[in-house]
Amino acid sequence: MCGIVGIIKSNSLKTEAIDILKKLEYRGYDSAGISLFEKNRIKTIKSVGKISELEKKSKNFSDKNFTGIIGHTRWATHGVVNRNNAHPFSDENLTLVCNGIIENYLKIQNRYVDIPSNIQSDTEVSFYFLSYLLNKYKNPDHAIKTFLKTIKGNYAFVIFIKKNDSFYLLKNGSPISLSHKAKSFYICSDSSILSSYHNKIYHLKDGDIIKINNNFVKKLNNNSKISFEDNSVSQNPYDKGKFQHYMLKEIHEQPKVLKDTQEKYISEFFVDFETKFKNLFNVNKIVLVGCGTAYHAGMIGEYYFNKFTNLDVSSELASELRYKNLNYNQKTLYIFISQSGETMDTLMALKYVKKYNQKTLIITNSLQSSMVREADVTIPTYALKEVGVASTKAFTCQVLSLANLSLEVGKMNKSLSNLDYNKNMKILGLLPAKLKKLIKDFSPIAKYLAKKITLVNSCYFLGRNIAYPIALEGSLKLKEISYMHSEGFPGGEMKHGPIALIDKNTMTVCIAPNNELYEKSLSNAQEISARNGKIIILSSVKRINKGSTEMKVSNLPKENFIDTPFIYSIPLQLISYYFALNEGTDIDQPRNLAKSVTVE
Ligand code: F6R
Repeated sequence: MCGIVGIIKSNSLKTEAIDILKKLEYRGYDSAGISLFEKNRIKTIKSVGKISELEKKSKNFSDKNFTGIIGHTRWATHGVVNRNNAHPFSDENLTLVCNGIIENYLKIQNRYVDIPSNIQSDTEVSFYFLSYLLNKYKNPDHAIKTFLKTIKGNYAFVIFIKKNDSFYLLKNGSPISLSHKAKSFYICSDSSILSSYHNKIYHLKDGDIIKINNNFVKKLNNNSKISFEDNSVSQNPYDKGKFQHYMLKEIHEQPKVLKDTQEKYISEFFVDFETKFKNLFNVNKIVLVGCGTAYHAGMIGEYYFNKFTNLDVSSELASELRYKNLNYNQKTLYIFISQSGETMDTLMALKYVKKYNQKTLIITNSLQSSMVREADVTIPTYALKEVGVASTKAFTCQVLSLANLSLEVGKMNKSLSNLDYNKNMKILGLLPAKLKKLIKDFSPIAKYLAKKITLVNSCYFLGRNIAYPIALEGSLKLKEISYMHSEGFPGGEMKHGPIALIDKNTMTVCIAPNNELYEKSLSNAQEISARNGKIIILSSVKRINKGSTEMKVSNLPKENFIDTPFIYSIPLQLISYYFALNEGTDIDQPRNLAKSVTVE
C-alpha cells in the first residue's frame, strides 16, 4: 500500500510532487508528507488526511534552493494514523519513505538501544536503524548495504542522505520505477504516472540498490548497467471529463474498453490459439485465483470453463490458496486475475505455486507489474487505468478475458462445437453496443432503486449458478462505496440459514436471468416477500407475475449464458454508485481502502 514519489532537479519540485501524490492517492490516503532537501538542509512537512491537507500546509513554503524532494501518501499498517507515523521520517541528516512492510522490525527495535521502544511504525524503526548505521559506518554505501541485509519483508525505500548528498532507492517486492532525462530524475511507485514526465524508465528489480549522486546513477548491488527502456503510455486517466466521480466515468467507459479488449483478442492475441496455447492448457485442472472483485471474476470464469470445456475447474481466494497443500502430481494450470498485478496476496500465491513448478497465467490490466514478471504467460486486459478504488471496468474486462479463454480452450479441446463457439463469439462482439444502451436506459432506474435502498438497514444479493458470483460482486460494490451492511448468497442457500436475517428493514436484490433457474430464483423472492423483506428483482423476463409486493425491474436486455455477468453486473454498479451518492460517501476513495493492496 502507500504511494511514493521522488524528484531530483525540477523547477517546481513541490507542485509536481504534490501533483503526483494526488495521482497516488488511490494507494492510500490517511496521511501524507514531503521532504525537500539539498546538500546542507532537509525540510519535512507532514499532515493527517488527504493530499489536499498537505497542499494547504506546505502552501507558504518555498522550494527554491532545494535540489530534490521525496513524498509519500500512507495507508496505515503499523501504527495509528497520526502526523508522527506519516512519512517521510527525517532529521537533519536523513529522510526516507517506504512502501510495504518490514516484517522483522520488532526484532530490530529490541536489538538496538538507539531505537526508541515506544514507536509503533515499522518505517520509523527502519529510520532509526539506518541512522544508527550511518553513525557506525564512515561510508553511507556500507550503511545502506548492511541495512538491506538486515531488514526482511516486501518494501520499496527512497532515501536521501545528507552526508554524501546522495539519493538511494531500494526494492524488494514492492514496485518502484525511475525515469530520467538529462539531469532530472523522477521516482514513483506507479510507473504509469511517470510517462507524463519522461519517456525513459527503469523498473527496479528485487534486491536493487540504486544510488544517484551528482547527476550520476549507478547500481550498488551488482555491476550491471541500468538499462532504461521506453515508457510511452499516452492516456490521461485523471481527467474526469463530464463525470462527478471516476467510478461513474469508468462505468460508462465499459462498452469502449470491452470493445477494445475484444478486438485485440480476436485480431492479435488469440489468433492461432492452438499453436500459442496448446501446451499451456495441456492440463487436467484449472484453478482461478484472485482477491475481492478479481476473485469474483475468477468465480464467473469457473462457470464458463465448466460449461465450455471438459476440464476440472475451481476458484480460490489468493489469501487462502497460499496456505493450502497443492496436489502437484496433477497437471494443473493456475490462472491468476489481478487488475493491478501487484496485490500482495495474489503475488504471493503466484510465487507459491511456482515453487511447485505449476503452470501459471496472469490476466492483468498492468503490463509492467510484478505478476507479469513472475507468471509464465500474460493475458492483458485493455481497460486502461482504473482510478476509482471500486473496480468496475477492470472487472468486466477480466470477465471478458475469461469468456474468450474458455471458448478458445473448449474449441481447441473439442468440447465445444464450432457452431457454439461462433455463436458465443458473435454474442461477445455485440456486447459493447448492448451495454452502451443498457447504461443509458438503466441509469434513471438505478437512481430510483437507490432511493428505495435508503429505507432499509441491510441489503442482500441473491443469485444462482453464474448469477451467484454476480450477487457477491453486487454486494461487495455496495458495501465498499456506501458502507451499507450487505451480503451476497447463492439463492439455494437462503433456507439453510440466511433467511433468518429477513425482516421489513432488509432489501434483497434477486438476480434472476431468464434461464432454467429463473423459477427457482423467483421462489426465493416470494419466500423473502412472505417474511416482509423488501425485494428488487432484476430480470430480462418481461412479465413477472408472482408476488405482489416486489419491485420488479424487468426491462433488462435479453441475455445469453455468456453475457449474463455483464448485463447484470453493470446495473448493480449503477445502483451502488447512486446509493453511495445519496449517502454522501467518498465514492472514489472509500474509507479504509486502497486501490492496490500491496500488504498481506
Ligand atoms: C473492489 C476491488 C478489490 C480488488 C482486489 C484485488 O472493488 O477493487 O476487491 O479487486 O483488491 O485487486 P487486484 O485486481 O488489483 O489484484
